[in-house]
Amino acid sequence: MGQSDAKPSTLTTVHLMKIAVFSSQPYERPFLDEANTAAHELCHFAVSLTPQTAPLASGCEVVSIFVSDDASAPTLEILARGGTRALVLRSAGFNHVDLEAADRLGFDVLRVPAYSPHAIAEHTIGLMLTLNRKLHRAYNRVREQNFSLGGLMGFDMHGKVAGVIGTGEIGQVVCRLLTGFGCQVLASDPNENPACVEMGVRYVDLDELYASSHIITLHCPLTPATHHLIDAAAIERMRPGVMLVNTSRGGVVDTRALIAGLKSSKVGAVGLDVYEEEGDLFFRDLSEQILDDDIFARLLTFPNVLITAHQGFFTHEAVSAIAQTTLANIDALESGGELPERHRVTSRLFA
Ligand code: NAI
Repeated sequence: MGQSDAKPSTLTTVHLMKIAVFSSQPYERPFLDEANTAAHELCHFAVSLTPQTAPLASGCEVVSIFVSDDASAPTLEILARGGTRALVLRSAGFNHVDLEAADRLGFDVLRVPAYSPHAIAEHTIGLMLTLNRKLHRAYNRVREQNFSLGGLMGFDMHGKVAGVIGTGEIGQVVCRLLTGFGCQVLASDPNENPACVEMGVRYVDLDELYASSHIITLHCPLTPATHHLIDAAAIERMRPGVMLVNTSRGGVVDTRALIAGLKSSKVGAVGLDVYEEEGDLFFRDLSEQILDDDIFARLLTFPNVLITAHQGFFTHEAVSAIAQTTLANIDALESGGELPERHRVTSRLFA
């Protein structure tokens, strides 16, 4: 081999990392591979992270997880023993991570603070329109050549009152879309968003929002303060026949109270993209199995309940942005580089 063919020796030491990607789905791998310009070693595991699967990550400095993975203290302890030092979340929400344990074990925890608020906001409006005009029922009827309209009557969105709880990235876009329909938008959020005020949204207390809204949609994070925010007492204060939409986190709604509200017809329609116990159900094909969650099974029996399996984020743009930010977070861990504050849940930035 001539000298000109010899590979130039590299002068800078690049520390490529080994990353265990849990809950890795075939549809996101091409996006992660494309974003992995530094050529870190990505080890994809289709299984969720649990204490039982955590040993798979042995030797991986970084573990990447999604919303249904279990990042409780027992799991994190196993990961720490296997040499993991950072959790890189492919989500904005971090309610599934035991932050106290992560901090104690010295983990960096990084997230994707915003990828496409439009994806979730547009899905939210899709749920509202489908429930209102009964498109889910109309679709099945027409396929069976039943062209009757009985039971399919909806209402004009125009002129109705919509209550938005949480007006951050996603809630703000929902407010804009609802004002586009001609809805009067009320909001509740401890931090008023000037962009929402600018577009005519009126901040009110929860009592007024509950009492006035024809539609209520949830866009707050799951925290101790928002856990079961929508419970029996809240539903009691709502307008009869209210439509409730939740694309935030399942735990914000007390599902048993919701079912009671549906049975009494106090609640007129429910759209859910999230569910309290979704970790045991969503993101897998269980169509050959017996459903043993009786609460979820009861929800499925209502004609005025529409459930999607946490797909609000699932657009080309959002999945691509999640992959790009996840790999940028990993690169920053590797280099000790700069990261926007909103990416850090807890962070030491090992390098
Ligand atoms: P964000 O952080 O931009 O906005 C959240 C807003 O909720 C903030 O303005 C905050 O002040 C407000 N808030 C906090 N506590 C509240 C309370 N007690 N009452 C009313 N408002 C309260 O978050 P972003 O990006 O808008 O996401 C919102 C939530 O949507 C996330 O926390 C996550 O749970 C969920 N989400 C769901 C997805 C899906 O695929 N269905 C995808 C992405 C996020």
